[in-house]
Amino acid sequence: MDEIPNESESGAFPVAERLRSLPEHDPNDAVENAILSRLADNWHRRATVKRREESLDDVFERDRPDFPVALLPFRNHPTYLGLDDKVKAKILAWGWVAFNKNIMDIEQYVVNPGFSLIVKDAFDTGLGETMAIAVTQAMVDEQYHTLMHLNASAVTRRQRGWRMPDSALPLGYKTRRHANRLAAAETPEQQVLVSLAFTTVAEISINAHLDLIAEDHEIQPVNRMTAVLHNRDEYCHASIASTVVQEAWKRFTADQRGYFLTALADGMEAFAAHDFTTWARIMELLGVAGGGQMLRDIENTSGSGRLLQDFSGLRQLYQEMDVLDAVPFDWSTVTTDAP
Ligand SMILES: [Fe+2]
Ligand SMILES: [Fe+2]
Repeated sequence: MDEIPNESESGAFPVAERLRSLPEHDPNDAVENAILSRLADNWHRRATVKRREESLDDVFERDRPDFPVALLPFRNHPTYLGLDDKVKAKILAWGWVAFNKNIMDIEQYVVNPGFSLIVKDAFDTGLGETMAIAVTQAMVDEQYHTLMHLNASAVTRRQRGWRMPDSALPLGYKTRRHANRLAAAETPEQQVLVSLAFTTVAEISINAHLDLIAEDHEIQPVNRMTAVLHNRDEYCHASIASTVVQEAWKRFTADQRGYFLTALADGMEAFAAHDFTTWARIMELLGVAGGGQMLRDIENTSGSGRLLQDFSGLRQLYQEMDVLDAVPFDWSTVTTDAP
């Protein structure tokens, strides 16, 4: 994973100078923001990390599937349909483990590094200490979400008696694409813009991503509740990310704006996609005959579909920023409820 450079190395944003000469605290010098103040003030009451932990093993229901069949990109392929029920159950269990790993990878390698830059005000938003507190609280939330998803995979392994180690899977597709884009950035300034863009896409589309599990009442209730609890925190994170990015945007130069919009669109492609590399590895681990060919068939079919199709939140953000038509993304491939 490439290190995101400290913005002070880039010289691209004025925060570098301010960080070097720590200013005296002055409660009047920051731009106060009502949304951030409210979220920072009620965090101790609403955050999932502040709730009592349930014993997951006590509520595990062995007869339920671990993952929705509707989220398998190959669910209608004859190779999958011809598998016996035990293998299908293992594919669903691996699907859940991979879903959790993908979320954890995003939180650890995309979102928290992006939040860390925001806390340091690398984008010169002028939002001050309230913003730093709200975003640092969100970083604590993310660390706790990682623990929640780690626990959710662990209980599945224990209850099923199947090993399914995370270490057998590649880095999640979205995180890989973020790393590739960081590596392709030509300057440290571009790298921090990539980080903000992917963090924005992650934080404003994750509700729709978690809904894929949270709204399925047929699957394992432990899994559904993990997504429901995670989702509650993420509604607040979406507000925080939206507030921060809109302030940052006002201060970007024309070049920075153009680069940022392209990175946003790339982030959307990454977050919409199925992770075929991970599925290929799962087919290999389960020894599914013809599994690789099945995935190639699906991947090569136009209209094979996206995993995430609801980009209402981002569409609304772009409308508020007045950049909807400038984001190089094909909106006809997704659904949005926004006007
Ligand atoms: Fe999270
Ligand atoms: Fe988040």
